[in-house]
Amino acid sequence: MLSKSIFATQFLKANRSSVVLSLRTFSTDQKAKDPYDNIPDSILSITQRKIYKQDGHPLSTLIEKIEGFFGQGQISDLHIPGEKFKVFSDFPPLVKVKECFDDLGIPEDHVSRRITDTYYKSRDTCLRPHTSVHQIPLMRAGNNAFICVGDVYRKDTVDKTHYPAFHQMEGVRTYDLKTLGVGNVAEAKLIAERDLKQVLENLARLVFGDVEMRWIDAYFPFTEPSIELEIFYNNEWLEVLGCGVIHDKVMTRAGKDITNEVGWAFGLGLERWAMKLFDISDIRLFWSQDPRFITQFKQGHITKFKPYSRFPTCYKDLAFWVPPHFNENEFFQIVRHVSGDLAETVECIDKFTHPKTGRESQCFRINYRHMDRSLTNEEVDQFQVKLRQLVASELQCELR
Ligand code: PHE
Repeated sequence: MLSKSIFATQFLKANRSSVVLSLRTFSTDQKAKDPYDNIPDSILSITQRKIYKQDGHPLSTLIEKIEGFFGQGQISDLHIPGEKFKVFSDFPPLVKVKECFDDLGIPEDHVSRRITDTYYKSRDTCLRPHTSVHQIPLMRAGNNAFICVGDVYRKDTVDKTHYPAFHQMEGVRTYDLKTLGVGNVAEAKLIAERDLKQVLENLARLVFGDVEMRWIDAYFPFTEPSIELEIFYNNEWLEVLGCGVIHDKVMTRAGKDITNEVGWAFGLGLERWAMKLFDISDIRLFWSQDPRFITQFKQGHITKFKPYSRFPTCYKDLAFWVPPHFNENEFFQIVRHVSGDLAETVECIDKFTHPKTGRESQCFRINYRHMDRSLTNEEVDQFQVKLRQLVASELQCELR
């Protein structure tokens, strides 16, 4: 949800031509790997960090605030009696592909399942790309009201608001017809939707203040209807979460009786909220181990981040002929592999098609910046040399 929800927008892109499924991970680890394993060591090490549990970390303060909201008795004006929300925040990110995609009704050929979008450990396991993976197991275990927080992983573009690891919070509430005081499921779903909207509007107001809000129709395979909440904050409309009434198929898989029970679910990207609230302009800062970052914050307090001196960027361009099934995400992954967190943005600055051969050429500009010091030209040149090699060998691109 940090990036515009992949399950909504990428669905539209699902018809893109299929990509070359390169299974290589550029790993330096020589141990025999599962042939499906496409998780680089850099991502594996991130799975250990648990920054959202770190005292004083902006994500931890934000989570505490949202948990506080769900811990109160009445969170919507409908006054539906119910249990207090339970909080789950310790599920490991390695999950079953079946629970993550199939059980939620995400089609077999959906783009989010591709190895260019999701990190797989094996054919059947992956790093969760969303916390929705926990909805069904938690409902099955008898939970009717809960929130669930965790780190999620997606291969994505390289820019200031995208990082291959980020954090989501999932929320779910289910009830039966008797609790809602209605006689049929259709009516119950309407009340569930009203309750959902009220709860989330109250939450957004608590966190962002008295902001203007609007609801936008959306699409998620696991909710029906599906909607997104946008708030007007700092002079712009910002999409803050996706949600909806839980799909009958999901309810059934969760062991619910769909003639008597309904529910709602939402998912929100915590970095997106925290970046606005704490004025953090670059998503990589959340992972910074520089004491100048973490010492600015105090647990429980939302304060504005004061950027410490930013070192200059250094950019390099790279142009190549793209093969027919070229996938940008694979290129971005190579950039991250070569330069770690130092690549701040990667953008395509030029595209052209050769009039005679019909081949397409693309030129990418990579902006490098170190958070803690100036980069030398030699260092950046070395990245480029390595990048050129890998783009040619791994992506079969002819360099220009
Ligand atoms: N899992 C969705 C995403 O990551 C968000 C979502 C959660 C939408 C729950 C609806 C219900 O984009």
